[in-house]
Amino acid sequence: MISLPFAFSVISLLGTAAAQTQYTSTHTAAVAAARATALTLSPTSNVAGRTFDRFVQIWLENVDYVDAIADPNLAYLATQGISLTNYIARTHPSQPNYIAVAAGTRHGITDNNIHRLDASTKSVVDLLEPAGISWSIYQEDMPYSGFQGPSYASGSYVRKHNPLASFDSVTASATRSAKCKNFTMFEQDLAADKLPQWMFLTPNMDNSGHDTSVAYAGKWARDFLTPLLADSKFNIPRTLVMLTFDEGSYNRNNQVYAVLLGSAVPTGKRGTTNGTAYGHYSVLKTVEVNWGLGNLGQGDVGANAFF
Ligand SMILES: *[C@@H]1O[C@H](CO)[C@@H](O)[C@H](O)[C@H]1NC(C)=O
Ligand SMILES: *[C@@H]1O[C@H](CO)[C@@H](O)[C@H](O)[C@H]1NC(C)=O
Repeated sequence: MISLPFAFSVISLLGTAAAQTQYTSTHTAAVAAARATALTLSPTSNVAGRTFDRFVQIWLENVDYVDAIADPNLAYLATQGISLTNYIARTHPSQPNYIAVAAGTRHGITDNNIHRLDASTKSVVDLLEPAGISWSIYQEDMPYSGFQGPSYASGSYVRKHNPLASFDSVTASATRSAKCKNFTMFEQDLAADKLPQWMFLTPNMDNSGHDTSVAYAGKWARDFLTPLLADSKFNIPRTLVMLTFDEGSYNRNNQVYAVLLGSAVPTGKRGTTNGTAYGHYSVLKTVEVNWGLGNLGQGDVGANAFF
C-alpha cells in the first residue's frame, strides 16, 4: 500500500524535465517508471587543453598509502604512470572528500548524511560548461541517470560517494542530472565513442574496496583499467587518468595512493614518482589550469597543479 503513492507521484510527473528532480524513490515500480523515461545525455566536445584533452578520475575507498602501494595490482599500476607520493586526502569521512574534489571546499559538510547545497553553490561543472568542455559522472549500480536516492542495489550504489549529488545546481537541472549516469552508460558511451572530456567514475561498494579489501579493489582497478588503457576509444591521445582513494584510515595522516595514467603521461615519465604536496584540491586546480577555466575561489586557488 505504501508503494502506491510513490509510484503514482513519479508517474504523474513524467513528461516534464523537472520531474527528474523527483526521482528519489527506491521502490521497484518507481525505479522502473523512472528508468524507462529518465533523460540521459552523452555530450562530447574537443577543447584542446594545455597538457591533456581528456580527464578521467576513478576513486577507490578508505586505504592508507602504505597499504595501497603494498598491493601487487596497485603497485603494478603505479609502474604504468606517475605515482604521487605526497598526496594527502582532505578529511574524514568519505562524503566531504567527494564534495571537496567537486567544489574546492567541503562546504562545512563533516559527515555522510544527506545534505543539499543550494543552487548558487558552484562546482567544477560550472567551470567546464562555459568553456564548452563536455562532462559526465559514472556511478556504478545507480539505477538510471539522475537518480537521487540515498542508495541502490542493496547499498551497492551510495549517494555519499557521488561527487555531485549534494549540489542543487546539478540535481535541479534536468540536463545536468542527465549526465549523472551509471556504468551501463559508461560502457555504452565508450562503445559509441561518446565519452566526454571530463569524467568521474565511482565503482560500487565492493569494487571500490569499501565493503571488501584493498586486494579486491586493486584487482578490480587493474582488471578495469588494463583493457581501457589499450582501447583507442578510451585512451585517446592526451588522455589523463587519475586513480586514487577518497581517504585513508583514521590511524595515519590521510596520505593516499594517487597515480596518473594514460596517454598524456609521457613514456619517459612512466614508473616515476613525484613527491610534490598534492590533495583533492589539486585535481580541481589541474583541470582549471589545463583548460584555462579560472577558479571557484576556494581551496583550488592555492593548491598545486599536477602540471
Ligand atoms: C543505467 O542507466 C540507464 C539510463 O538511465 C538505464 O537505462 C539502465 O537500465 C541502467 N542500468 C542499470 C544496470 O540499472
Ligand atoms: C612533479 O614535480 C615537479 C616539481 O618538482 C612539478 O613541477 C611537476 O610538474 C610535477 N608533476 C608531475 C605530474 O610529474
